[in-house]
Amino acid sequence: MDISEKILALKTEKGVTILAHYYTPLGVHKIADRIGDSLGLSKIAKNEVEADYILFAGVLFMTETASVLNPAKTILSPDKSAGCPLANFLSGDDIEKYKEKYPNIPVVVYVNTTAETKAHTDVCCTSSNAIKIAQKIAEEHNTDTILFGPDKNLASYVRDRTDLNVISIPGRGNCPRHNLFTKQDVLNAKKNHPNASLIVHPEAPPEVQHLADYIGSTSGMINYVNEHENDSGYIIGTEVGLMEHLIWKNPLKKFFPLNPKSLCENMKKITLEKIYSTLKSIGTPEEAQYQVIVPSDIAQKALLSIDKMIDYS
Ligand code: 13P
Repeated sequence: MDISEKILALKTEKGVTILAHYYTPLGVHKIADRIGDSLGLSKIAKNEVEADYILFAGVLFMTETASVLNPAKTILSPDKSAGCPLANFLSGDDIEKYKEKYPNIPVVVYVNTTAETKAHTDVCCTSSNAIKIAQKIAEEHNTDTILFGPDKNLASYVRDRTDLNVISIPGRGNCPRHNLFTKQDVLNAKKNHPNASLIVHPEAPPEVQHLADYIGSTSGMINYVNEHENDSGYIIGTEVGLMEHLIWKNPLKKFFPLNPKSLCENMKKITLEKIYSTLKSIGTPEEAQYQVIVPSDIAQKALLSIDKMIDYS
């Protein structure tokens, strides 16, 4: 048996559901029960998992979100050191300082934040619902201004598509893997692949977004490829894991990376070997090292922010 077969057998034996994000290694997509974008995985974790154990193949903020939504289930992370550099741009204390500076202004944060940060906010959002959430929370607070963090590029995406005054906090937050895309990357890719469609994630800088044929979440990008035939192919402006997924699912279509250096080393920490070790630990003293537990006082407050997002979207 190869490692994938061993994982499939063990997850059935131990009663585990494996959820995976598109940026994890392709081998992980092939053994996962469900693959999704941030919003999709949150919804699945909340409503659609019967198993007592969820093994979450993703970075820590995703695992924390699953834990906050499912306190009764055991949430396992194959590598708890797989963090998100974007999430480090904004802490709960930072938010309290912004609230003092801008009293009565609602705070929206990207789901790419820690549970501790979410606990200080009105609502969180993902790239697939950011516009809707921003509009709804502004309406609820009867204001045209919102505080939005930590991704400055997603803030700009929301600002461009609403009438809201979007104050980006801290104003410099970014995902290093998306923020590296440049206008020159687009010009080079379009020169090498004329007529290919450029599809990018809203974490990319505004000058790249403005040249795109489509901007959306990882699931949105997959839907775009499924719904649009382009024989010249698709230039993919997000982490390379999504491109590997697209190639796997669409062997007859052509895909080109906007920049092959857009590789999230944290997502790549979630290997098949670590997933196997995590599954093997279930029911032994080693299991504790893989469990993700958010302290209940933080979890209760973060839940309000996450639940509001799910209700709104
Ligand atoms: P999606 O919600 O588009 O999957 O994005 C997740 C993410 O972390 C992007 O960096």
